[in-house]
Amino acid sequence: MKLFVSQQLKSLLKRMGYELRNIKPNPEVDFQGVDAYVLEPFLKKSDELLRYKKGSEQTGMGWTDDFLKACRFLSLQEVIKHCVRTFPDKHFAECGCWKGHSTWVTASLMKEGGSKSQFHVFDSFEGGLSDKVAEDESLRGRIDANQVAKEKLVFASEESEVKENLSEFDFVKFYKGWIPERFPEVKDFSFGFVHLDVDLYQPTRDGLEFFFPRLEKGGAIVIDDYNFSQFPGARKAVDQFLIDKPQVFFYAVPTGGAFLIK
Ligand SMILES: C[S@@+](CC[C@H](N)C(=O)[O-])C[C@H]1O[C@@H](n2cnc3c(N)ncnc32)[C@H](O)[C@@H]1O
Repeated sequence: MKLFVSQQLKSLLKRMGYELRNIKPNPEVDFQGVDAYVLEPFLKKSDELLRYKKGSEQTGMGWTDDFLKACRFLSLQEVIKHCVRTFPDKHFAECGCWKGHSTWVTASLMKEGGSKSQFHVFDSFEGGLSDKVAEDESLRGRIDANQVAKEKLVFASEESEVKENLSEFDFVKFYKGWIPERFPEVKDFSFGFVHLDVDLYQPTRDGLEFFFPRLEKGGAIVIDDYNFSQFPGARKAVDQFLIDKPQVFFYAVPTGGAFLIK
């Protein structure tokens, strides 16, 4: 009888466009859902969300869209806006651009904010990731050569294609090569903002070691891969780098990624 009533109710509600579901409490978490008011920036389509979407369209990255990526890009934009306002004359840099999604978002904020500086972008443009070292061993375990090759393929991008995607921003300069090969070309600049999004231990460590000393006081470095179980090397590189710098403001964003302010 109980089953019959519940089926009738379900089908009636379905015809009215509703769905009846029994939501069981999950003992693993101490909250049961997401407060819609917290999602306001997403629901009302903020400038930041629209810029994230537009960058994704411009660079053909729509297929990578997900809620947590959008959250990382919202945090990223808040940091960039602050740095554009504070350091309109200082250089900006990015390590790891792939097809240029974050590059497009950064460049568009620099343009909108009236930045007068250059944006230096470093990437291998050569089939993606450099080789993994011991620090990159994932929490999910070692991945075999086949999976490594697949991962490299996913992160492949063509420099000419990315340049084309970013052609509206003439202040963006690309440096094709394995990090840190081409860092010496910008060694005399001082930076207001740096984005590190290279997934692995070695280029994250090299990026921090090179850019931190050249970062203005109050300038920021965003590390996109901090706290990804897939890419533990990025977190290791950051944690090791910060051990002797307790004065640096460091924030690991709960939805992924982290940033520091010098
Ligand atoms: C996750 S993707 C970057 C995503 C990009 N920031 C975005 O928002 O779409 C990582 C990039 O880092 C680059 N990369 C990884 N290790 C590198 C290294 N050692 N030298 C140069 N580029 C590297 C890869 O080629 C790839 O394009």
